[in-house]
Amino acid sequence: MSKDVMLVTGAGQIGLAIARRMGYGKKIVIATRNVQKAQSTLDTLINAGFDAVVIQMDMGIRESIVNAVKKAQEYGSIKMLVNAAGVSPSQASVQQILDVDLLGTAILLEEVRKVIAEGGVGVTISSQSGFRMKQLTPEEDRALAMTPTEDLLKLDFLQPENIENTLKAYQLAKRCNEKRTMYEAIEWGKRGARLNCIAPGIIVTPLAVDEFNGIRGDFYKNMFAKCPAGRPGTTDEIADVAELIMSERAQFITGSTFLIDGGATASYYYGPLQPGLETGMEEGKQ
Ligand SMILES: NC(=O)c1ccc[n+]([C@@H]2O[C@H](COP(=O)([O-])OP(=O)(O)OC[C@H]3O[C@@H](n4cnc5c(N)ncnc54)[C@H](O)[C@@H]3O)[C@@H](O)[C@H]2O)c1
Repeated sequence: MSKDVMLVTGAGQIGLAIARRMGYGKKIVIATRNVQKAQSTLDTLINAGFDAVVIQMDMGIRESIVNAVKKAQEYGSIKMLVNAAGVSPSQASVQQILDVDLLGTAILLEEVRKVIAEGGVGVTISSQSGFRMKQLTPEEDRALAMTPTEDLLKLDFLQPENIENTLKAYQLAKRCNEKRTMYEAIEWGKRGARLNCIAPGIIVTPLAVDEFNGIRGDFYKNMFAKCPAGRPGTTDEIADVAELIMSERAQFITGSTFLIDGGATASYYYGPLQPGLETGMEEGKQ
């Protein structure tokens, strides 16, 4: 008898924490770019009693996403999606961030929606970064939410020459993730399934460590030191919220984004992290 499938994208630390919390009794299919690098994540799951497998998928390539969703279904019906693959501003170019974080997520949510089991549930990971960018116009937000995936990267304000740097590309991608979650939650609802988004603050993972060591390293270290929590977060704290919104108790929660950032965004707008209060600490100026 085939099991229900939990499809996890990326073999990273946030995806792993959520898989450990919610993947019991499921076939966990990890779809990631570098299968070899995923070995330690796979070992961790298998050694802890989970039933998991790794398949190859590049979130920057449409056919690769379509094939991975097909392949995952060979193990059973997709009941859960954890979209935790992604690249950060210090790891990738503007184009790669648009391809993987923005368009890749939009395509994945669309492809999984076509096959998600009734009662299924998904969570996609955006970022606090999407909360710190300047307001977009209602038309731009609507375009991010609803433009067909074939045309998404044709939007004027998503042309690389109109995007200042990789941080701005990342912020746009993460804003798009939130808007896309709202739009797709309506479509997922027609199949009796739910979809939500988590926007983490600084969570210690290899991706965050690359940021600490990148050109904005001092900015990020200052950010967690001066946010109300006074520290970066852990992947298990993200999994705590994922557990609630993916559980049966969350039947009334869909199309939402949950900001979990130790209060950094609050401090950025109204507290000690406001840009300009500390010379040299404005985002992107290090
Ligand atoms: N860690 C943080 O502080 C933080 C904060 C906000 C948002 N996020 C977001 O959380 C998500 C997960 O990141 P993480 O912190 O667990 O990092 P991580 O580095 O542990 O995991 C990222 C995973 O994505 C995979 N990946 C990268 N490009 C891919 C591609 N093209 N196709 C398939 N897989 C690919 C990587 O191989 C890796 O396994 C990302 O979307 C990231 O933007 C992280």
